[in-house]
Amino acid sequence: MKVSYHGHSVVKIRSNGKTVLIDPFITGNDLTDLRADEQSPDFIVLTHGHGDHVGDTVDIARRSGALVIAVNELALYLQHQGIEAHPMHIGGSREFEFGKIKFTQAFHGSGLQQADGTFLYMGMPAGVLIMNEGKTVYHAGDTALFSDMKLIAERHPIDLAFLPIGDNFTMGPEDAAVAAEFLQAKITVPIHYDTFPPIRQNPADFVSRVQNGSGRVMTVGEVIEL
Ligand code: NI
Ligand code: MN
Repeated sequence: MKVSYHGHSVVKIRSNGKTVLIDPFITGNDLTDLRADEQSPDFIVLTHGHGDHVGDTVDIARRSGALVIAVNELALYLQHQGIEAHPMHIGGSREFEFGKIKFTQAFHGSGLQQADGTFLYMGMPAGVLIMNEGKTVYHAGDTALFSDMKLIAERHPIDLAFLPIGDNFTMGPEDAAVAAEFLQAKITVPIHYDTFPPIRQNPADFVSRVQNGSGRVMTVGEVIEL
C-alpha cells in the first residue's frame, strides 16, 4: 500500500492497483496540494457528514464514477444525489478491490446543515481501518479520545494511524498522544490541524509527546509505502 497525506484529513491510498481517497475536502482547503478536478479515484471513503470531510465528494464521484463508501445514512443521502454509494456501518467490514475496510466508532457529530438552517442527520461519525496484504491503516476521522482504541488495536494491529490533533472539535495533542499509546501503531501521523484558526497546532510538539516513538509529521503530498 502507498499512503499519502494531503492536508486536513485528506488521505490517499493506492492498493491493489486501485486509488482510495479518504475525506476529500479539497475546495476551500488551503493546505492541500490536490485539485478536485484532477482526482479520479476508484473509491471515496467518508468518515462522517461534515463539510470538511465530505468536501468535493459529489463532484469527484459524479465525474469519475468513484464508488463512495460511508455509513448508511450518509451513503443513502449521497445515493439520493445521484452518487453511487455503498452503505456500511460501525463494526461492519467488507472486501473491495483495494482490500478490506472496517468502520470503527468515533465520538463526534455528523449533521449536515441545510440552506434553511436545519440539520440533516448523517448517521454516526466513524473511523476506518483499511487492510491489505497484511498491512493496516487506521484513519480515526474526527473523534475524542476513547479507551476502546485499545480494542481496535488488539483486534487489528495497526501499521499506520492518522489521528486528529487540532483540539476544539476533536482530540488535542495531549489526548492524541494518549490515543497513540492505546493504538501502538508502527507510525502515528497527526491530521486535522492548522486548516482553520481554532485548530492551529504544532505537529512537531505532538510527535514529541508520543511516548512509543511512532509519531511522524507527514508533509503535504508525502508518501509512505507500507
Ligand atoms: Ni467533523
Ligand atoms: Mn472535521
